Amino acid sequence: MTTIPDAVGLAAAAVDEDAFTRNDDGELIAQTSSQAIITTMIRELGVEPGDAVLEIGTGSGYSTALLSHLTGPTGSVTSLDVMPELTGRAGHLLHANGYAHTRTLTGDGAKGAPEFGPYDKIIAWTTPETVPQAWIAQAAAAATVVTPVNVTGLSKTYAVITAALDHGELIPESRLTRGSFVEMSGQIRTQWLLPPYGIDALHTGPNDTPWWLSSHWLRTQESRALGESLAARLAAEASASTSPLALDDDPLGFYAWLIATRPDGLTTACLGSPAWQIGHSSPHSAALIPLAGAEPLTVVGTPASADAVDAWVEAWRAQGSPGWSALKPEAAQQPDGSWVIRAALAQARS
Ligand SMILES: C[S@@+](CC[C@H](N)C(=O)[O-])C[C@H]1O[C@@H](n2cnc3c(N)ncnc32)[C@H](O)[C@@H]1O
Repeated sequence: MTTIPDAVGLAAAAVDEDAFTRNDDGELIAQTSSQAIITTMIRELGVEPGDAVLEIGTGSGYSTALLSHLTGPTGSVTSLDVMPELTGRAGHLLHANGYAHTRTLTGDGAKGAPEFGPYDKIIAWTTPETVPQAWIAQAAAAATVVTPVNVTGLSKTYAVITAALDHGELIPESRLTRGSFVEMSGQIRTQWLLPPYGIDALHTGPNDTPWWLSSHWLRTQESRALGESLAARLAAEASASTSPLALDDDPLGFYAWLIATRPDGLTTACLGSPAWQIGHSSPHSAALIPLAGAEPLTVVGTPASADAVDAWVEAWRAQGSPGWSALKPEAAQQPDGSWVIRAALAQARS
């Protein structure tokens, strides 16, 4: 069966992806996202001809070209990136490839670009801690926002929301999709193992590799030192323990349940490598699990954390092992006007 491409499919067929994502030597530029992810999120945005779009995270400029194809000559795309070499490169390529109704600007996307608003559609390819107030202030009355965002307050726990604006209120659609993009940072970053926000305890291991922990119990002055020594113990003396997840358990479902229920002691961590982990920590213990397959737990200290993770797996299974499809976003406005998004379970299962 042949499927007829929709407007986004036609845009993807029309835009020369390699012209944007590859350097002169044919190598992909580091900031490129996959075409499938880009087109999925642009579909969510529902761009119409004539729309004014604000894009955060220009990167290669490929997504800017797709958006420009969709907005057409009566619309516009204003695209921001913190890295001047990216906005310069993308701006040159966009104009050389005929996308005249685009502008690339260098700056912190959290501030938006008020001079070119209001925007009918706002899309981000980099993850803010909360949905910035500036985006809401610069949005048209019934704008749509598609953005990854932190959904627990702990580092690395990100999801993508699609939200409508209604009289300045951010109203997320009822589902959350899994999705993670580089953290939004007003500073140019030269390393990727240490996120710019959400880290509560840090130990620098051999070859300057960061070992970090992110957990709510670590957010007092007194507990910080405990967290740093726990991170150092993880680097020096952790051992592997059998995973509480069976082969037929979906680790991503367990992760989804954890970020929606946020049990006490929930912790995210980087153990000196790019693959971050999730689990439990306390002043005297940690038990962390990667999100791929039934991998072993990394444990240190007393059995308290491994016992906690065992109990969480039992509770998750008892609720029918809900996964991403059982999650919904909840939005709350902060005093500074930004919106905090939290994952919640859409319905309790018996
Ligand atoms: C995944 S890449 C964007 C991919 C792009 N959409 C494409 O099609 O190639 C994310 C980009 O966000 C940028 N970024 C990170 N923090 C930012 C911020 N505070 N403001 C604007 N851009 C930011 C990074 O420099 C990076 O280029």
